[in-house]
Amino acid sequence: MKKLSDCFTLANNVSIPCIGFGTWQISDGNSVIQSVLTAIENGYRHIDTAAAYENEKGVGQAIRSCGVKREDIFVTSKLWNSQRGYETTLAAFDRTMADLQLDYLDLYLIHWPANAKQSNDWQKINQETWRAFEKLYKEKRIRAIGVSNFLPHHLEPLLKQAEIKPLVNQIEFHPGYTQQETVDFCKLHRILVEAWSPLGQGKVLAEPELLRLAEKYQKSTAQICVKWCLQSGILPLPKSTTPIRIKENSFVFDFELSTQEIQTINQLPHRWDSGFYPDNIDF
Ligand code: A2P
Repeated sequence: MKKLSDCFTLANNVSIPCIGFGTWQISDGNSVIQSVLTAIENGYRHIDTAAAYENEKGVGQAIRSCGVKREDIFVTSKLWNSQRGYETTLAAFDRTMADLQLDYLDLYLIHWPANAKQSNDWQKINQETWRAFEKLYKEKRIRAIGVSNFLPHHLEPLLKQAEIKPLVNQIEFHPGYTQQETVDFCKLHRILVEAWSPLGQGKVLAEPELLRLAEKYQKSTAQICVKWCLQSGILPLPKSTTPIRIKENSFVFDFELSTQEIQTINQLPHRWDSGFYPDNIDF
């Protein structure tokens, strides 16, 4: 990746801009509208939201009013857990589109897998949800469909039954939490991995090894994290409401980490994860 407008290509040949702007924990209204507008003004062309973020109205408003053509912006949203199942998913998608006020969505993700802790029928529930995703995809209301927070044992039963394979898996990924097994599984199955909280919600930014690399390249540790994702073939979704940081997080195309440096980051001990483990969550 050489510039912010460069794209990864999904297995269905849809292009997805290589850094997305994350909007988790940005409140609806002025805050999310201003943040998304700032991101777009600074060249971001990929915005990530979710029904659960409760900011789809503001995200949609910013996208509709920013002056950039709709087809030049890649928009992702996610189906919340309480809406799993075939009919409920179709209805939830309609609500998301009504809130966004957009004609189509670029990418729709199942936010979290149903898990064994929640229901003995967890595989069936994920499959029924996926069947609704496939219908929406075939109707061309969504350009790409995928999942989020799925581990290999959640993906396997879905892959067996799916007519259209998930194209994306968005997982927590940052220095100190690399979920290597899931990343390897996704790469094998041509599922693009996206990184939520690529900065570990800001917690990783004082790590000495990252500070050393930041000093070497005259970059910030946030930029080191974003670059490390890209060089690992993973699409980062950094979040910020601070204009200077929104800009900073996208200025990562004038340096390269060495293979050794990438390895060093990969090997940082397990730390700073959110504690939201897909098999443990009860929401
Ligand atoms: P803020 O939104 O106040 O600017 P993640 O994307 O990993 O979830 O991290 C988001 C957190 O990291 C937010 O608290 C955000 O703060 C902070 N953050 C984002 N970009 C930077 C940056 N370039 N430098 C320092 N902190 C940042």
